[in-house]
Parts: sequence; C-alpha cells; structure tokens
Amino acid sequence: MYTPAIVALVFAMVQIVAGHGLVTSPAPRGPGPLMKAACGQGIYNTLSSDPYGNVQGALQNRGTDYNASECKMNLCKGSQLESGGPVQNWSAGTNVSVKVDIKAPHTGVANVNIVNYQTGAKLATLMSWSDYASNSHTIPANQTSFSVTIPPVSNCTVPGTCVMQWWWDAHSINQTYISCVDFTQ
Ligand SMILES: *[C@@H]1O[C@H](CO)[C@@H](O)[C@H](O)[C@H]1NC(C)=O
Ligand SMILES: *[C@@H]1O[C@H](CO)[C@@H](O)[C@H](O)[C@H]1NC(C)=O
Ligand SMILES: *[C@@H]1O[C@H](CO)[C@@H](O)[C@H](O)[C@H]1NC(C)=O
Ligand SMILES: *[C@@H]1O[C@H](CO)[C@@H](O)[C@H](O)[C@H]1NC(C)=O
Ligand SMILES: *[C@@H]1O[C@H](CO)[C@@H](O)[C@H](O)[C@H]1NC(C)=O
Ligand SMILES: *[C@@H]1O[C@H](CO)[C@@H](O)[C@H](O)[C@H]1NC(C)=O
Repeated sequence: MYTPAIVALVFAMVQIVAGHGLVTSPAPRGPGPLMKAACGQGIYNTLSSDPYGNVQGALQNRGTDYNASECKMNLCKGSQLESGGPVQNWSAGTNVSVKVDIKAPHTGVANVNIVNYQTGAKLATLMSWSDYASNSHTIPANQTSFSVTIPPVSNCTVPGTCVMQWWWDAHSINQTYISCVDFTQ
C-alpha cells in the first residue's frame, strides 16, 4: 500500500531522473546576481540549487519578478554574463574541445550554435544530432566529448554579446537543457 507521500516522492524522483545535462568545459555561464535580477528569485533559486535543471522546470517556479525579455530563458536558460564570468577569446578557426556532462539521459535532439545573445540571432550551427542522449541505447562518446571549429563571426568583440550555445531538447518530456559559453572574436 503506497501512501500519497510515497507516491509523490516517487513521482518527484521520476521527474528528477527524467534528464539532466550541462556543458562542463569550456566554462559556461552559471547562476549569479545578474540572473536573479533578470529572471527573479524563483528561477534563480531553482537553477542555483540545480544548475543541471531544465528550462520548463525553472519556468514553473517563476514569480512576479520574472522578466521574460531580460531573462531570455530560451537562449541561455536565464544565465547572464556575470561579473568576472569566464569569456573565451576565439579567433576564426580555433578548434575548441567541448565536454558535456549528461547526469541522466533522455532521448532528444541537440545542437551547438553560435548565437548573438543581444539580438537572439543564430549565426552558425556547428553540431547537430537527431538522436541525442538516448536512454534506449548507449550514448556515443562523441555526444559528450567533441570538438568544434569556430567560424568567423561579426559583432562579437564585446563580452556578453556572443555565446556558443549547447541546446538539448527532450521533446517527449518537454524538457530543454541549455548551456552558454561566452566568447569574443
Ligand atoms: C512545455 O512547457 C512549457 C513551459 O512550462 C509550457 O508552456 C508548454 O505548454 C509545455 N508543452 C507541452 C507540450 O507540455
Ligand atoms: C522588462 O525588461 C525590459 C527590458 O529591459 C524592460 O523594458 C521592461 O520595463 C521590464 N518589465 C518590467 C515589468 O520590469
Ligand atoms: C582577442 O584576441 C585578439 C587576437 O589575439 C586580440 O586582438 C583581441 O584584443 C582579443 N580580445 C579580447 C577581448 O581579449
Ligand atoms: C580538433 O582537435 C582534436 C583534438 O584535440 C582533434 O581530434 C580534431 O581532429 C581537431 N579538429 C580539427 C577540425 O582540426
Ligand atoms: C560518433 O560516433 C559514432 C559511433 O559511436 C559514429 O557512428 C558517428 O559517426 C560519430 N559521429 C561523429 C560526428 O563523429
Ligand atoms: C552587426 O551589426 C551591424 C550594426 O549593428 C548590423 O547591421 C549587422 O547586421 C550585424 N551583423 C550580424 C551578423 O549580426
């Protein structure tokens, strides 16, 4: 006989293992005071307690202090270039080694893009997977450790303007995971 509390706990655990991932190298944007200012306390609390969390889960915890146009959830999962935050300086042709930590897989699609964070424009797609982080077969090693070649880009001289965006969408469970690495060129 399962009590409602146990059912709720098991349901919560299923939610937690539904998917989880983050770029670990190069160092991505993370939660900080600018995220809190842009996205509000609820989203900040959710993502600082679990930086691996997903866009939809964070949005469920948004409060009245959430500002969609400041937070830009769908670009960098609310993360901003925090004070002293890491910024790479990549000339065109730089070969960048990328590491992704998939804590819990869930079948989806993924891309690695160059995005102008200020305008939202996608400047390039460097990688694309139609079957990413599957939980029905072993994840190929080249989905979590791979290299990309940085293309020539415009308007990326000011830190905070351009990011390398890793975007993983597990559509069947409506969970999207995003990491952003700031760079200049
Ligand atoms: C996915 O999550 C978003 C944000 O919570 C919600 O607006 C949307 O309706 C959801 N879509 C589906 C298909 O559940
Ligand atoms: C949300 O942010 C935008 C852009 O900075 C700003 O123009 C707008 O006034 C803000 N909205 C609220 C309710 O604070
Ligand atoms: C990035 O590197 C280039 C070439 O080495 C240099 O000219 C430029 O000043 C650097 N930019 C930053 C923001 O460090
Ligand atoms: C980038 O570097 C890795 C090793 O660090 C290498 O395996 C890969 O072939 C390189 N890619 C290009 C396009 O040079
Ligand atoms: C990734 O590795 C798999 C084998 O595990 C291979 O079939 C596939 O072509 C590789 N993809 C890339 C982009 O290197
Ligand atoms: C770069 O900025 C200029 C001036 O704001 C703009 O006209 C141009 O479309 C931008 N280019 C890109 C690739 O964003």
